[in-house]
Amino acid sequence: MKLHTICLRTLLIFSWLLALVISAPLVAHTLSVPIPGKQSILRVGALPDPVTQKGQAIAKLIMEGLDKKDNAYLQKARVELGSLLKKENIGGNYSALYWITGFMLQADESEKSSYIDNALDQSYIDFFIADDFANLKEYLQRKYQVNNFQPTDPEQHIVRTQFLEDMVIFNNPARSTWDSVTEVMDVIATLGADIKKVIDVGAGFGFYSYRLAEIVGNDGTIYAVDTSEPYIAQLKEMTATYSLGNIEPIVSAEDDINISEETDLVFISSLYHVLYSWSQHEKRDPFLKSLKKALRTNGYLVILDNNFNFGNELHNSYIEKDFIVAQLY
Ligand SMILES: C[S@@+](CC[C@H](N)C(=O)[O-])C[C@H]1O[C@@H](n2cnc3c(N)ncnc32)[C@H](O)[C@@H]1O
Repeated sequence: MKLHTICLRTLLIFSWLLALVISAPLVAHTLSVPIPGKQSILRVGALPDPVTQKGQAIAKLIMEGLDKKDNAYLQKARVELGSLLKKENIGGNYSALYWITGFMLQADESEKSSYIDNALDQSYIDFFIADDFANLKEYLQRKYQVNNFQPTDPEQHIVRTQFLEDMVIFNNPARSTWDSVTEVMDVIATLGADIKKVIDVGAGFGFYSYRLAEIVGNDGTIYAVDTSEPYIAQLKEMTATYSLGNIEPIVSAEDDINISEETDLVFISSLYHVLYSWSQHEKRDPFLKSLKKALRTNGYLVILDNNFNFGNELHNSYIEKDFIVAQLY
């Protein structure tokens, strides 16, 4: 298969995630992309952790533990969750509920605080435990239909379930155990002290924006950009409440990144396979153009997406690295 591409310096990190760092200036040449066997070059993936009877039973146990304020239910749920980890998928809902129940089962405040590494972890657990676990209970009801929950707001139900699901999965404090979080941030930290303005594209609830803000320091800025208004509203509230660093949450459009100034680095995590496979040319082309315009000459583009996996990882999405490179030019 012949693909036209431009690529100068590329750096790859393989583990569950694949990171691709490309720095300009770029020179055009033709690249042959070997596709081993019958492996696909792109897989969108399934929804993370489809609802199963076992999942529903676990969710019911957690809900009972919360309603009756009885940790025995949570303990039982946690044992069940532990048995599902690795067998089902890594980094999905079960991993998150495993972390949350683990936190709740800590004996006292000092043990609980040892579970928390940073301000973003704190915002995560606060989100789920505030107001007598309102958001956690809502998630268990909407996702697992606990207590025979029937949504009265079908459209809002889809949006809200996705919101809670993305929060539960992508801001899970244990994410570094399956994503190459530290490794990727270490690479970015070595790119140079002149990396001060960064765009986090599809920032979600700021899992990476927070870490990028730590790298650029007080005189840098992370433009945390997302097409979802409710996500950006939530991120604004979190940055204000938890002092998450110099993060500027911005609502973007599908065809425009909405950043008018030049930046040093554009970061895209867990989004490129979606951008490429779902968005149409009419939106994607101007979007990528606006992204390119917002990146200075000799700036860096970092794409973090799923490496090839065998079906055990978060919703099995996957995109071939050389295919991404070929896509960009
Ligand atoms: C799978 S989440 C990843 C969140 C974050 N990057 C992370 O790794 O934690 C994808 C995010 O991209 C956002 N999104 C989807 N399409 C987008 C687009 N065209 N431009 C910007 N954000 C987009 C979604 O709203 C969602 O918050």
